[in-house]
Amino acid sequence: MSQFWKPGTERPQGRVVDDEEGGVLFLSGSHHSSSSRHGYASMEKQRQRLPVFKYRTAILYLVETHATTIIVGETGSGKTTQIPQYLKEAGWAAGGRLIACTQPRRLAVQAVASRVAEEMGVKLGEEVGYTIRFEDVTKPDVTVLKFLTDGVLLREMMDDPLLTKYSVIMVDEAHERSISTDILLGLLKKIQRRRPELRLIISSATIEAKSMSDFFQMRKKRREPENKDHGPQVEPAILSVEGRGFNVQINYAEEPVQDYVQAAVSTTLLIHQREPVGDVLVFLTGQDDIDAAVQLLTDEVQTTGKHSSGLIVLPLYSGLPRADQELVFSPSPRGKRKVVISTNIAETSLTLEGIVYVVDSGFSKQRFYNPISDIENLVVAPISRASARQRTGRAGRVRPGKCYRLYTEEYFLNHMPNEGIPEIQRSNMVSCVIQLKALGIDNILGFDWPASPSAEAMIRALEVLYSLGVLDDDAKLTSPTGFQVAEIPLDPMVSKMIIASSQLGCSEEIITIAAVLSVQSIWISGRGIQKESDEAKLRFAAAEGDHVTFLNVYKGFHQSGKSSQWCHKNFVNYQAMRKVLEVREQLKRIAKRIGLVLKSCESDMELVRKAVTAGFFANACHLEAYSHDGMYKTLRGSQEVYIHPSSVLFRVNPKWVIYYSLVSTDRQYMRNVITIDPSCLLDAAPHFYKMQQSNHLLY
Ligand code: CDP
Ligand code: MG
Repeated sequence: MSQFWKPGTERPQGRVVDDEEGGVLFLSGSHHSSSSRHGYASMEKQRQRLPVFKYRTAILYLVETHATTIIVGETGSGKTTQIPQYLKEAGWAAGGRLIACTQPRRLAVQAVASRVAEEMGVKLGEEVGYTIRFEDVTKPDVTVLKFLTDGVLLREMMDDPLLTKYSVIMVDEAHERSISTDILLGLLKKIQRRRPELRLIISSATIEAKSMSDFFQMRKKRREPENKDHGPQVEPAILSVEGRGFNVQINYAEEPVQDYVQAAVSTTLLIHQREPVGDVLVFLTGQDDIDAAVQLLTDEVQTTGKHSSGLIVLPLYSGLPRADQELVFSPSPRGKRKVVISTNIAETSLTLEGIVYVVDSGFSKQRFYNPISDIENLVVAPISRASARQRTGRAGRVRPGKCYRLYTEEYFLNHMPNEGIPEIQRSNMVSCVIQLKALGIDNILGFDWPASPSAEAMIRALEVLYSLGVLDDDAKLTSPTGFQVAEIPLDPMVSKMIIASSQLGCSEEIITIAAVLSVQSIWISGRGIQKESDEAKLRFAAAEGDHVTFLNVYKGFHQSGKSSQWCHKNFVNYQAMRKVLEVREQLKRIAKRIGLVLKSCESDMELVRKAVTAGFFANACHLEAYSHDGMYKTLRGSQEVYIHPSSVLFRVNPKWVIYYSLVSTDRQYMRNVITIDPSCLLDAAPHFYKMQQSNHLLY
């Protein structure tokens, strides 16, 4: 190991907040979380050992006396699981009010809610519940602690703009700066002015606490004596929970790493061979590279058993079935070593006990949007130094640990960005604009954002929404289309496709397609089974493309009596299909509620293509006439794109297509592609596309 690895000089731990400025309350202390798993300790004892417990009184006092409290503390100090319980114990849930705790990630919502229910000894879905898109595990009048994604809370504002049923809203993981968190913070600031009794808690693992505090600073009315005897203080309070982890020794790669998946696998095996017991957490980027690493490690365990016996290899990413999630959280059996291969969800959102070694690839999947080409895609991109430090910290929870960074120290010091860019500054703003419009916020450019999105991105979004018929000439939501689109909790392009399908008479089919598109993938894939799974896919392949292929799979699944064996035989992911059924039912309910007509077009796939075009015309592409390798150009920005190998149209290369999304690796790939008739583009969006020559479209 010493040949490859070079110990680093940086110490990751340190005080989280050291800013102590006027008007800001700063408390500190020091605490070492006790070592090892608390096998014998009662739940109550475990709770009291968490660093946050020492601050219980201080937190409750600050929340009582301040409109906004900012709480910063290391991952694992107990912010998410404990603070909502303290609030409940202190009476904030009395009189039918609720306490909300938001998370940017769905998986984290489920995991923390079930943990808190367990700690409180109640059944999940009763006093403690959670809501994520398409899944509501709460009970009216019973649930008092509600965990939810920040996106779901934004949706709730459409029915209850002032969020009147909540007494306290804890916006957790604020450092992630997800797009929904930022919108939520902007809106909550507005709500606070109308509801002085509402309390906000903003919590995070690392935050520029001062800038958040500045954001929530409320302007005082002149000459008004401040809070003599009523109302909370308007100055936000800042509390730092000092729960230092143990030291973590950092090792860097001596040379730049070519293949981080392979390097992560070899490093894990070296750790297993040479280091004492302790679980390993590996940070990769997404389901594809995680599955590949799991496979490589599992193969290794099978072929060279003696070096790798005692390894339990587990993936962790969103969309993982519940049973697999539970394995990740359960302690390793004696003498075994757990290896969890995760996306950046384990960076701060979830705490895994027992981790002693961290392997950091230095990458994560990030969303990037280019307003010039109007292209948004998920890219594997370098993480920031702040993220790298967080990842390292995960190794020091139970005892001193080690972190292996799959990049050089020189790279870390001189090339890694210091902080990440807030998601709102690298996203397409279409969904965001429609949500704000639906909440009656007209001056979107003048909205008070924690970080402002670019004006170009805003203008692009307004343009697309206008073309979709969602906004009118005055940039107001159209009736009924605009309001209907806003009601459907999906990307506005998908929502528009559903609304068009109701008019065209193919809503049953389009709702199925929308449900399939909302799950990650319905196919089982992986190394070694590629050939069989490709063959299986061909059995369903439709000439029109992936969307119609999904309909064939759904039909087959339905005819088999929703059988898991059928799925297994056809390389279809049974869990994903169950989710499709669920989402489909929910979408049908929403469709009925907003007055859409549910109807099947039987076998008239022309209608299906028309409906897809009505929503996704902006993603139309044309095959380059002289291209031999299947190069397409987007009609709008003339960007080079290719059909993804997972598509049934891969190598078929029809002349005109529309894609659902883009992924970028060595090239830009279109995922989920359908052939179209270009004249439909003009019908769908005449103002967006103009016919120049008889068969040539220009933007
Ligand atoms: O939010 P924060 O990172 O500060 O900590 P937390 O999520 O409240 O976790 C506090 C402790 O609860 C962790 O250290 C874990 O020991 C435990 N926990 C757990 O065992 N299982 C979970 N699903 C969540 C938390
Ligand atoms: Mg947390």
